[in-house]
Amino acid sequence: MIPQAFIQDLVARVDIVDLIQKYVPLKKAGANYQACCPFHSEKSPSFTVSPTKQFYHCFGCGAHGTAVGFLMEYAGFGFIDAIKDLAQQIGVAVPEEGPAFSGPSREQQRSLIDVMTDAAQYYRDQLKNSPRAVDYLKRRGLTGEIAARFGIGYAPNEWQGLADQFKQYDDEVLSEAGLVITNEAGRRYDRFRDRIMFPILDQRGNVIAFGGRVIDQGEPKYLNSPETPLFEKGRELYGLSQARIAIRETDTVIVVEGYMDVVALAQFGVGNAVATLGTATTPTHVQKLLRQASRLVFCFDGDKAGRKAARRGLDAALAHLADDKTVAFLFLPEEHDPDSYVREHGADAFQAAAQQATPLGRFLLDALAEECELGTAEGRAKLVHLAKESIPKVSAPVLRMQLVRELAHAAQLSPEETAQALGLAAPPKPPTGRFGDRKAPPPLPRAPVAPFVQKLLRLLLARPELGSRVPFDLLACLPETSERDAVIAIMDAGEDGQLIGASLGVWFEHFRDSACAPAIATAMRSIQEGLVNDDRVEDELTDTLRRLELLSLENEIKTLTGSLIRPEDQAYLQQLFAKKQKLKSGQPV
Ligand code: CTP
Ligand code: MN
Repeated sequence: MIPQAFIQDLVARVDIVDLIQKYVPLKKAGANYQACCPFHSEKSPSFTVSPTKQFYHCFGCGAHGTAVGFLMEYAGFGFIDAIKDLAQQIGVAVPEEGPAFSGPSREQQRSLIDVMTDAAQYYRDQLKNSPRAVDYLKRRGLTGEIAARFGIGYAPNEWQGLADQFKQYDDEVLSEAGLVITNEAGRRYDRFRDRIMFPILDQRGNVIAFGGRVIDQGEPKYLNSPETPLFEKGRELYGLSQARIAIRETDTVIVVEGYMDVVALAQFGVGNAVATLGTATTPTHVQKLLRQASRLVFCFDGDKAGRKAARRGLDAALAHLADDKTVAFLFLPEEHDPDSYVREHGADAFQAAAQQATPLGRFLLDALAEECELGTAEGRAKLVHLAKESIPKVSAPVLRMQLVRELAHAAQLSPEETAQALGLAAPPKPPTGRFGDRKAPPPLPRAPVAPFVQKLLRLLLARPELGSRVPFDLLACLPETSERDAVIAIMDAGEDGQLIGASLGVWFEHFRDSACAPAIATAMRSIQEGLVNDDRVEDELTDTLRRLELLSLENEIKTLTGSLIRPEDQAYLQQLFAKKQKLKSGQPV
């Protein structure tokens, strides 16, 4: 675990303008900076970066976040990697990594990346010199444009071709990069010879590995770089760097099996496809992709191998599902892979098929049922037994419940019996929380107070030190919404004083993993859109609190007068009426 205080300090020290500037050219516009949004395509700039708030926001597509968020969204980093990258940029060490971490040093990575970049350049140059390789690509239907876009090259049929590019062919770094192999006799030679070369890029666009295909027939058909300090197969995906914009625009990512599939789909306008690298899909792959899109479609060949790959994809996905994400499976007709399919039927047909892909839940239940004789009690018992391996792993709570229900139906059990058989307990009651022991006043109805609570949240986020002005009794009768919880969380965080005076970005990161994060994000967005007038925060807070109290009083009065009033409540009711009068007329209470 990286300490929260370190993250806050980091976000406070990094300048978001400097950071984003490295990826997107920003122009100064008043107090902020502007650019065309890197997250959707547009002609006039609606992407703004605020140096005071340390936050970016796009008025067009709603993308928003801090420096950390930007690296995650733009470069596709995970949270930890984003933190590490930022720390490196300002030259501080990330604490509490534990002694286990012994990854490559930055210099080592840099020199490997340089070597890979030079090698990619060399292979591209060689392609121009090889009519045979060019002819092969043409026969496979690739245009020059798409070959250039994917940086496709050719490794000539020579034992030490790379010596033309690298003066020091015996430099160890060439072997570390997986480009050169040393045989038992100590002789060094190129790993890739007479192959079409597909560079594999990381999310920042650095070349980190290659896949090489034989021209026409030969074994192995594909030869890939070995794992190196730059390249871990279970994390990387072919084409992700090129697909980033299309993934964002469609909010969908398609996972296919092969290099050629990715390239062919892109050539036909399906830009959001990526491929695993000759390995099964891993949970890390799924996690990485679901961070960038809310729909993930696995597209496999219709054959037995394809179905098996789909099962592996399914297993990898279970633990990274969320109820607002979809994972689906598309099986092509047996004779096709995505490359041949899109060439024969076109992009529209492929997109339509991807649209209708089988949702994960259906695929899972069908796959399980396939293995069981549902006509017998034993078969139905086996179904539940098999499901125990997967359904409890589903991380999306509502989907998990749905699956339990469907399984129950197929197994001819009640949902409760099924849940029990799967080892799933009934959902626990929500904790009573801060107001647990108190006799709470009647809760306010949600609809009329919602805008006021949202406003309260915005105001407190703009000026967290004002949290002490919010009366506890008032909070107690607000409906239990995430906005209310966010207000309480801000008050709690403000109480120890640590975050007071921090930029909005720091606050935002403070709440990253909390249940209030979405409510905070929405509030940040309205602040960014100018809904809070900095000069009037205090007045507006007073006014908002007054309105809320008035609503609360009216509610309490209504509740009291709606019941049989006990004599001792009469006086209390009178007090409430008096208080209401005062509030209405704007007097202090
Ligand atoms: N693969 C591999 N090593 C092999 C064969 C395949 O790493 N010996 C991986 C490659 O990433 C390849 C993917 O598995 O892209 C799918 O293999 P396959 O379906 O055989 O190849 P295609 O992608 O269809 O390639 P092509 O169309 O060029 O035959
Ligand atoms: Mn193919």
